[in-house]
Amino acid sequence: MSVLSGKKVLLGVTAGIAAYKSTYLVRLLIKKGAEVKVVMTPSAKEFVTPLTLSTLSKNEVFSSFTNEDDDNAQWNNHVELGLWADFFIIAPATANTLSKMAQGQSDNLLVATYLSAKCPVYIAPAMDLDMYKHPSTLETLSKLESFGNAIVPAEHGELASGLVGKGRMAEPENIVAFLEKDIADQLPLKGKKIVITAGPTYEAIDPVRFIGNHSSGKMGYAIAEKASELGAEVVLVSGPTSLQLQAPNVSIVRVTSAQEMYDAVHLYYPHCHTAILSAAVADYRPKNVASEKIKKKEGEMTIELEKTQDILASLGKIKDKQFLVGFALETQNELDNAKTKLEKKNLDLIVLNSLKDKGAGFGTDTNKVTFITRNNKVIPFEVKSKKEVAYDILQHIIDHIDA
Ligand code: CTP
Repeated sequence: MSVLSGKKVLLGVTAGIAAYKSTYLVRLLIKKGAEVKVVMTPSAKEFVTPLTLSTLSKNEVFSSFTNEDDDNAQWNNHVELGLWADFFIIAPATANTLSKMAQGQSDNLLVATYLSAKCPVYIAPAMDLDMYKHPSTLETLSKLESFGNAIVPAEHGELASGLVGKGRMAEPENIVAFLEKDIADQLPLKGKKIVITAGPTYEAIDPVRFIGNHSSGKMGYAIAEKASELGAEVVLVSGPTSLQLQAPNVSIVRVTSAQEMYDAVHLYYPHCHTAILSAAVADYRPKNVASEKIKKKEGEMTIELEKTQDILASLGKIKDKQFLVGFALETQNELDNAKTKLEKKNLDLIVLNSLKDKGAGFGTDTNKVTFITRNNKVIPFEVKSKKEVAYDILQHIIDHIDA
């Protein structure tokens, strides 16, 4: 999945021959899952029609402060457009528009929107080779860069004038690749390795029977997916579940028993910045596993159980610089029990879910949690989707790992 998926992208089109390529750019952005709106300078409409761009973007195209052709002329609010966007790409950006942007002019909707935009701005210049290397253009570009805008470098090749040199607008594929890389590089968990556990464990009684629990794994999978979206490199150690996850930089290690989960987690933990243990690990397992299916007999049957290893507690003991997060599922004395677990297992954060809360617990798509931090701060949350809870957990980690 692209980092552009679900993002709002405003595309600014100015009056250069490369404007025809902005149609491909719209299509590529839509394919990446972005929502696209287009703002054009009035003269850009001579190069590419608003109808083409509105059809491709499935949105109205804006080119003036008011819709003059409309009987009930409507004000196109540049501030609203600027605030709507997660990213603003100006492609092609002509020398004229670049110069207006550098000087803070606002005589058309596009440049006024640029002045109002709070989001990251990407500029793909397009002009003839001599214009591109003119000292005033170079000065303009470095000024725009010093304002915090990103310049997508022009490419070398044949130009509309017939001359060959640098000045062609970067190809739409390259603009999108530039954007994706730049966005990915700035993700808050970029370069961070996280190990996450999810799901139940099954403890064998014999070759066909086991002791398990109702954990669906949804919480852990949601955390893994969100962590990947935020740029982390994730190892998801998953107990038996039918869930699938296809996300960049997530490798799934499938295990069955608590012991297998313990071994897998310990393999990755030393190289991790963070561990989030959301699996519902069996606390006990059959002491002896029958090698053949146990036959039914007269009377009652007893299975002797022994303790499994507490994975979370074992990580707390060897904790180096890792941020360690555990879960607690409690039915009574919730806060006190969770606080005790946090201290006993040497955690940085414990996420408490109470089975008493509606919308919390196993199998549901929602959860209601309370965070208890290392310095005993209690942070309660409303019922939320497990994806939103995942985001809250990761945001808490982001706020604390670099602090
Ligand atoms: N956990 C673990 N290994 C175990 C048992 C639990 O890593 N063998 C982790 C869970 O993934 C969770 C946390 O410990 O993050 C709390 O699990 P929970 O079952 O609520 O608590 P326990 O410590 O097992 O205590 P109890 O069952 O008595 O409440």
